[in-house]
Amino acid sequence: MDAFRIKGPCKLDGELEVPGAKNAALPLMAAALLTEEEVVLQDVPAYADVGNLIRLLRSLGAKVTHDDVDNPLGGTVRIQSDHAADPTAPYEIVKTMRASISVLGPLLAARGRASVSLPGGCAFGARPVDLHLHGLRSLDAKIELDGGQIEATAPADGLKGRIIFMGGPNGPTVGGTQNVLCAAVLAKGRTIIESAACEPEVSDLVRLLRAMGAKITGEGSPRLVVDGVERLHGCTHRVMPDRIIAGTDAIAAAITCGRVELSNYPQDSLLGVEDVLQRIGVRFEFLDDAKDLLRRTVRITADRRQEAVEVTTQPWPGFPTDLQAQLLAVLTLADGNSVVTEKIYSERFNHTAELERMGAVFHRIGPAVVVRGVPRLNGAPVMASDLRGSACLVLAGLAAYGETVVSRVYHLDRGYHRLEDRYRRLGADIERFNADASDPDDPAAAIEIPAKPKKSAGKKTTPT
Ligand code: UD1
Repeated sequence: MDAFRIKGPCKLDGELEVPGAKNAALPLMAAALLTEEEVVLQDVPAYADVGNLIRLLRSLGAKVTHDDVDNPLGGTVRIQSDHAADPTAPYEIVKTMRASISVLGPLLAARGRASVSLPGGCAFGARPVDLHLHGLRSLDAKIELDGGQIEATAPADGLKGRIIFMGGPNGPTVGGTQNVLCAAVLAKGRTIIESAACEPEVSDLVRLLRAMGAKITGEGSPRLVVDGVERLHGCTHRVMPDRIIAGTDAIAAAITCGRVELSNYPQDSLLGVEDVLQRIGVRFEFLDDAKDLLRRTVRITADRRQEAVEVTTQPWPGFPTDLQAQLLAVLTLADGNSVVTEKIYSERFNHTAELERMGAVFHRIGPAVVVRGVPRLNGAPVMASDLRGSACLVLAGLAAYGETVVSRVYHLDRGYHRLEDRYRRLGADIERFNADASDPDDPAAAIEIPAKPKKSAGKKTTPT
């Protein structure tokens, strides 16, 4: 298993491009199932999740290619679906990636039937899909759960446009909104999705669907209005830049008191993050004419220890849960006590125990963590247990004194393409190596030796 060895502290300095967004690309790829014409998606990076979804789409009868994968912005994916193929998404693929659920709405709308395995939970808690199913049932789909499989069928004369309230006890759902939207575009009549997720990745899906011929208004607001059309056609679409990678890079500049220049920076989707980072002392200097807020060029600098701050993760445009772990890393070194409250996934704090091994000090109170800023972190062997938590450990390693070994970086690889190359280009001393369990002197290998399975070890680690 791969691990990272990082020697710190370092001061990042240089230029990077923000690649296309994984969380946007996955539902866009699934939406290509809505037409039998070719859909071309540009700026799709070659992450494991993208590869898994390609496997899933192929198993659903689609022809899929992924070219130009070495492009720093991401490669080009071409998808051509076949409505006559079997609409069964098998557990063997779905279990590798929760986002597989995004094929449910498109399959149901385009093929009249879908059979998709229920995705499990993840490393930071239960991940229900009840709102996805509620939304699809509202469009007159019949949905049954059979042996862990979601069996969904549309009426013989097709799905019906309806008024649907999509809010749940935890607020709106990004994936649920996307699934119902994809089903509604081919339903008969008008659908209103109220309490829709406003996330930029939903808006990117709306842009794709519109380019395919769908009639949708209201993206970026909690009410989406969809007028169903008979059929959709192929198109070419450029995936939005990854706001979580851009935010991670900005925090990397902050924690190393460095300077990072980012092009293809999606400012439009990061205003809430910029606000928090500016409050802790990070500077954003835009180097373009602001013609396109989705793709800007910015210089991010931090030249001193950061200030403490109080932050709550929220649906967009608030501070995103997917940057909470990375923010915690920089706050461990801030001047004073910070409070970070996790409103989306109250258990998403696996990274704090690892950061404590490096000298960070936390006090957890339910869904909140008080972070006491310390003067320095010290390198240590640490273990990644989820995607964004892994990024947090890498950032901490860049700032820590001495050697940090981050094991299980396969979690990281799910959402960052060769992050070590990215930061090495900016001056970091970071390398990937194979933490072979046969080498007893290897600090990462020592972590990788499998423990005896415990009886309670049933917790799933299905990724985000
Ligand atoms: C997406 C992102 C993920 C991000 C999350 C929140 C992708 C591939 N993943 O995940 O990185 O962390 O948004 O911004 O885009 N919920 C229900 N019932 C449902 C669905 C969700 O109660 O049917 C709850 C969830 O448990 C969670 C909240 O709603 O508490 C938000 O989840 P959701 O927006 O659906 O996240 P995903 O779309 O799965």
